Amino acid sequence: MLDNTYILAIESSCDDTSASVICNEQILSNIVANQEIHSQYGGVVPELASRAHQQNIVPVVDAALKKAKISKSQLHAIAFTQGPGLMGSLLVGASFAKSMALTLQIPLLAINHMQAHILAHFIDDANEKKPIFPFLCLTISGGHTQIVKVYDYFDMKILGETIDDAVGEAYDKTAKILGLPYPGGPLVDKYAQAGSAIYKFTKPKVKEHHFSFSGLKTGILYFIQKKVKEDPNFITKNLNDICASVQNTIAEILMDKLKMAVKETGIKQVAIAGGVSANSEIRKRLQSAQTHLGWTCYIPKFEYTTDNAAMIAIAAYQKYKLGLYNNQTITANPRLKVNS
Ligand code: KG4
Ligand code: ZN
Repeated sequence: MLDNTYILAIESSCDDTSASVICNEQILSNIVANQEIHSQYGGVVPELASRAHQQNIVPVVDAALKKAKISKSQLHAIAFTQGPGLMGSLLVGASFAKSMALTLQIPLLAINHMQAHILAHFIDDANEKKPIFPFLCLTISGGHTQIVKVYDYFDMKILGETIDDAVGEAYDKTAKILGLPYPGGPLVDKYAQAGSAIYKFTKPKVKEHHFSFSGLKTGILYFIQKKVKEDPNFITKNLNDICASVQNTIAEILMDKLKMAVKETGIKQVAIAGGVSANSEIRKRLQSAQTHLGWTCYIPKFEYTTDNAAMIAIAAYQKYKLGLYNNQTITANPRLKVNS
């Protein structure tokens, strides 16, 4: 067993600049700087994101070390998100981490962002209990929607994924149609909790364990356009019910597929991960599946759902223990898959 291992992890795959210090499996700090700039554009502008990462990275890393009460000389390794994500954003974190590891003469660890979302469940304070391999994970974020069979820390297989939009995009696009700012997922969730699911939207028919959300998005758009033509104040008058109806449809789509995957694999250990796993309705339905279907469910703490460096840090600790270091030739990979 290793003594205390301190790792600094950096996450910069999209529009959040984050740094975390971990001591073995315990998070000592997890600093996240959100980039407000994108809200006025209704989505992430890649060029602005990389520029903001450049501005944020030094203060965010400093804050993470300070909060953890750790000096650079105490670190055993530096980790960064290798991908997937936006190339310009990833390069900021990768270059920073590589320079720091080189200067401090300590190991460098390149981390897969999709694996890290799932491995967040192994942080000491993430759950009352840690998942047991093999388990299923529904990873739902702004860029991904997939059901993953997790055999081991770095041995994962995608059972199904979206063939078009990610579920987070469906949330964000719905928000945009309703005139809400980016990222709209949390707002749709908030209004939904005060409404009733009285409107019905067609659920996509996609084979096997795959998902599709682009048709739903168009269905919502046409529905709103038709209703606004009849009554220009339709959205303001019915915002809560519209959000509840969209949220209900999305939760049904996700749960239907998850139930199918549990049935086919016989695995009843089920986790959720990614930004959309913060969603109240999805959490409620998983809790209900635990009670009524005999599943053992792992629902992450809110701070480990949306992008954060703590999840990169726990993945890095597992890699460090296995001695899976990277050398300075490693580069960012915007298209990295969960099983690579
Ligand atoms: O994992 P994440 O931070 O970034 C990616 O890797 O994509 O996920 C961000 C996504 C956004 O689409 C955001 O709207 C969505 O997660 N999100 C939510 C909620 N909180 C964040 N969607 C629905 N309900 C929420 N409570
Ligand atoms: Zn993510």
